[in-house]
Amino acid sequence: MDSFEWNKVFAVVIASVLFIMVIGIVAETPFHQDHTKPAFTIEVASEGAVEVVVEEGPSFAEMLAGASADKGARQWAKCRACHTIDKDGANGQGPNLYGIVGRTVAALDSFRYSGALEALGTSVWTYEMVDEWLQNPQAMAKGSKMVLAVRKPDQRADLIAYLATFSDQPVPFPTVEEAVDAVEEAVEQAEEVAETTGGN
Ligand code: HEC
Repeated sequence: MDSFEWNKVFAVVIASVLFIMVIGIVAETPFHQDHTKPAFTIEVASEGAVEVVVEEGPSFAEMLAGASADKGARQWAKCRACHTIDKDGANGQGPNLYGIVGRTVAALDSFRYSGALEALGTSVWTYEMVDEWLQNPQAMAKGSKMVLAVRKPDQRADLIAYLATFSDQPVPFPTVEEAVDAVEEAVEQAEEVAETTGGN
């Protein structure tokens, strides 16, 4: 085998070892799940070495699984000045939030949205999106009329668990298994890239 071949073999071995490590890490540590920011980055260097970096800190999926809707009810005090959450509740300064997860963004005909949310397109609110929104509405939809942010991740998780109780058909919480699947897929892709670019 020439050095080109060896580079490919090397890349696959590294990728496999990292894959096992990542699964080990994911199995015991919280894993971050976020629809905008991957919890891991995979870099394929020109020599074909593959690097997988896993972020520290509890995953959103885990935070949500351990969240308390009762504590969230207390957080709701921050929202009730502008929002109602009960079914068919009136709009206030902000739109009614009944069944918000699984509802199309800026969907209520009865409410005059600012246009900032509409600019996100006709996506449906997921748990991760609500988390991102509450972390910083202005960063997600610049120019939005909602400015309040909930900085603490555990407070957001509790609040989202509370919101989720107000729905005809609650959307299941994201699972840690889904996060693991995403890593597996990404590592497979990295292996493929390593094979095609290795030893170029
Ligand atoms: C000062 C008023 C105000 C407060 C307090 C407030 N919001 Fe809002 N919220 C708004 C407004 C106004 C909008 C519509 C934004 C737009 O059109 O740009 C909105 C929109 C939303 C949306 C998107 C609704 C949709 O139909 O797509 C969610 C979700 C939301 N708020 C959640 C919350 C939560 C949870 C809290 C409490 C932590 C909160 N808001 C606190 C005013 C407020």
